[in-house]
Amino acid sequence: MPTALVTGCNRGLGYEFVRQLAGDGWRVHACCRQPEKARKLKSLDPGDGEVVRHRLDVTDGLQLAGLGRELADEPLDLLINNAGIFGPRGGFGKIAYEDWLQVFNVNTLAPMRVAETFARHLERADSPRLLNISSKLGSIDANETSGAHLYRSSKAALNMVTKCLSIDLDGRGVIVAAVHPGHVATDMGGRNAAVAPEDSVAGVLAMAQRLSAADNGGFYGYDGTPLPW
Ligand SMILES: NC(=O)c1ccc[n+]([C@@H]2O[C@H](COP(=O)([O-])OP(=O)(O)OC[C@H]3O[C@@H](n4cnc5c(N)ncnc54)[C@H](OP(=O)(O)O)[C@@H]3O)[C@@H](O)[C@H]2O)c1
Repeated sequence: MPTALVTGCNRGLGYEFVRQLAGDGWRVHACCRQPEKARKLKSLDPGDGEVVRHRLDVTDGLQLAGLGRELADEPLDLLINNAGIFGPRGGFGKIAYEDWLQVFNVNTLAPMRVAETFARHLERADSPRLLNISSKLGSIDANETSGAHLYRSSKAALNMVTKCLSIDLDGRGVIVAAVHPGHVATDMGGRNAAVAPEDSVAGVLAMAQRLSAADNGGFYGYDGTPLPW
């Protein structure tokens, strides 16, 4: 049974990753901050797969190290750094400086720390993949409107982290990619967003299967289209 670990799984895209992976017969380590309150996750029918819930605030280094030790014997075929926050939107003249570091902490530093923690689990799998759920808003080339400075800069930095990781882990056979999931109807994306979580996640998982060594270190849309940095 292939094994995945996903962060931020109690709602939104994270929950949908767990639902689809388990339905496809994966064993999924589903991480969230408060597993005892993760109602949907608790009642999820794992189908042919298996769902193991874990408590993980991705900014908590001690919790992360503990989970790394707990899963020490397990190869990981897929690691998805999904947990993220948008932070205050305020643009020029209204920057919430007091919140900026926290947005970076969750969106940029934590995915790096998660990757460092689970690199040894990934390298034990046959064809491991590490996906960082980024955003087109983190694209410097595509930015024509400004706004959402905190979120944009944290995801642009995550893209750089992704590129670094693709080089760091290259010798270990791990393929690393940054992925824009589309504008998705979740709490973050809003209910009028164009893409349903089911379609976004199905696209990302299909893309993850198609990734080859030549794609290592790239930035892709949920349909696999390469995106500008
Ligand atoms: N939706 C979109 O349109 C869109 C577009 C581009 C990129 N993305 C990215 O896609 C990813 C998932 O977004 P979403 O739309 O599913 O957002 P969401 O509905 O707001 O869900 C965010 C998830 O991240 C978790 N999270 C936040 N801070 C965390 C922390 N410190 N430790 C662990 N988990 C934490 C939340 O847990 P709690 O319930 O405990 O807060 C929640 O499970 C994010 O990285 C986001 O930036 C989303």
